[in-house]
Amino acid sequence: MSGYDETYQHSIERPEEFWGAAALGITWDQPPATVFDGARWFTDGRLNTCYNAIDRHVAAGRGGQPALIHDSPVTGTSRTYTYAELLDEVARTAGMLRDLGVTAGDTVVIYMPMVPEAVVAMLACARLGAVHSVVFGGFAARELAVRIDHARPKVVLSASCGIEPSRVVAYKPLLDAALEQAAHRPERCVILQRPQCAAELREGRDLDWAPAVADAEPAGCVSVAATDPLYVLYTSGTTGVPKGVVRDNGGHAVALHWSMANVYGAAPGEVYWAASDVGWVVGHSYIVYAPLLAGCTTVLYEGKPVGTPDPGAFWRVVSTYGVRTLFTAPTAIRAIKKEDPYGEYLKKWDLSGLRYLFLAGERLDPDTYHWASDLLGIPVLDHWWQTETGWPIAANCAGIERLPVKPGSPTKAVPGWDVHVLDPDGRDCPPGVEGAVTIKLPLPPGALPTLYRDEARYARSYLRRYPGHYLTGDGGHLDEDGYLYVMGRIDDVINVAGHRLSTGAMEEVVAAHPDVAECAVVGVADPLKGQVPMGFVVLKAGAARDPAQVEQELVALVRERIGPVAAFRRAVVVARLPKTRSGKILRATMRNIADGEPYETPSTIEDPATLPEIAEAVKGV
Ligand code: COA
Ligand code: AMP
Repeated sequence: MSGYDETYQHSIERPEEFWGAAALGITWDQPPATVFDGARWFTDGRLNTCYNAIDRHVAAGRGGQPALIHDSPVTGTSRTYTYAELLDEVARTAGMLRDLGVTAGDTVVIYMPMVPEAVVAMLACARLGAVHSVVFGGFAARELAVRIDHARPKVVLSASCGIEPSRVVAYKPLLDAALEQAAHRPERCVILQRPQCAAELREGRDLDWAPAVADAEPAGCVSVAATDPLYVLYTSGTTGVPKGVVRDNGGHAVALHWSMANVYGAAPGEVYWAASDVGWVVGHSYIVYAPLLAGCTTVLYEGKPVGTPDPGAFWRVVSTYGVRTLFTAPTAIRAIKKEDPYGEYLKKWDLSGLRYLFLAGERLDPDTYHWASDLLGIPVLDHWWQTETGWPIAANCAGIERLPVKPGSPTKAVPGWDVHVLDPDGRDCPPGVEGAVTIKLPLPPGALPTLYRDEARYARSYLRRYPGHYLTGDGGHLDEDGYLYVMGRIDDVINVAGHRLSTGAMEEVVAAHPDVAECAVVGVADPLKGQVPMGFVVLKAGAARDPAQVEQELVALVRERIGPVAAFRRAVVVARLPKTRSGKILRATMRNIADGEPYETPSTIEDPATLPEIAEAVKGV
């Protein structure tokens, strides 16, 4: 077996040979003769992703193996689907979609909580060659409307409600409101009625999920081109308009299948649990597609790390189902640490089967790393990636060769990713020097080929800044040993509890308040969530308002327009915003001030006195 260095060099120097070999892990209707055509992977290959995720395991005699475990402390239920049972559900759901006129290339929006039907819906779309676009349940109606207008779905799949520990979130009124705001009209909405809340169905448009699926004939797999889109997942950019990240079928299946064995060290038949949400890329890749492509058992957990009912929730799931690999966000571990600092809840469970804890979604701070690693006594492995890449860019590849951990670093570039740290002139930074983290083209299979219906934005956002490189939007440095340190975004994207959000989108909402003249939203440090947004607002002349009242209104507005997941709770009224002479708001400096960090007064500042004013305003906040 090759070690890390050899495998990595192989992938960079002879990518076609490398990925051609990896493609053998996938069952093709037509194996690709071309591995890479200079732009796209496996161009002339044909396959079906759902077939690879389910049918082929059943055909290989593994139909009786658990495929999906739904564990739901918020409803007190748990259910396991074998591969054969999952196949039946998916084929009938695909049959229902087919009966509604969905064919290959059509889009279907899925706005659902963490229920098995959400996974089934995604796979059913894949089975038909339809393109799903899942919208995270914590987004408000307006965000859903924006995505519906861009994706233009033929059908929307949703549920009557999601269940948060503190409340039942009725999804159907949110969907109805979104459809009122959206210009696009889907032909049908299919609603899963959950016992916790009944949704009102609109005659002629809405269908009840259970009878519609029960009445449907199973549909077979539709063969698609490797380059055909499997899904579109909207993610936050720097403006209020989200980016529709496209994932293709062939490259995605090859890369994700390869990553299970090589990055995660996971084998078929093992239980793999990504404690995330199907609305995020982690959920797409490592709750749904990768574990099933690899023949593992995946866990779909409808609960929180704490409070459902206690900080032992994750350990209960690991112990109950024999989870071998756990993947979550550092914020979840920090939440557990806060409530159970000495691991008393952990001691109640047998965790002897757990082999690795992988963390991603935000930087793994060394304190959290040490706490988890000391407590669990197993490798705790940070890895770095993003919606666009679909799978890890940097990791400690457990299935190739586990390298020594350096806390604060996600270790080294994963095979396939030619990672660089560039200075503003596009030169490689020496070790230890911070710069923009980029990936030299071509990107490996699985990474986004473009943005949905916006090739120009794709080029503008990712390729223009450093020709020949993909701009990740993250800043960081390499050390002498080639370990990468990813320190945070260099754009206006922030990371709140592992959720990627746009400060630009929040600024649009805040600016819409009738008394606000101008505003800036920055991400400030938070011990639990990593970052939280904080707004700075200048009121219109003559708006004699109580700042606390304005703050309350803005908090409500962001919650209503973007959603509770934005966790926007602070808005400070200031007399003016610090700006450069050309009028650019100094957001990075404001963030440093809010974080209580030392800051420099930029030479381009219009009025240096604005900075102490900000410092004064955030005192005591
Ligand atoms: N549907 C509706 N509302 C949702 C939702 C959903 N799917 N998910 C979250 N929300 C709501 C929450 O109820 C909460 O509302 P509130 O303001 O009324 O309390 C708000 O959005 C923020 O939720 P969350 O980010 O979950 O914060 P929290 O304070 O409730 O919990 C953590 C904090 C750390 C426990 C939680 O963020 C967590 O488990 N994080 C893990 C992150 C993760 O899985 N990231 C994915 C990438 S790996
Ligand atoms: P998302 O697209 O939602 O997956 O968010 C991706 C962003 O989260 C990245 O661009 C990083 O800013 C951040 N991120 C994810 N994982 C890590 C990590 N392991 N270390 C540092 N930052 C991370």
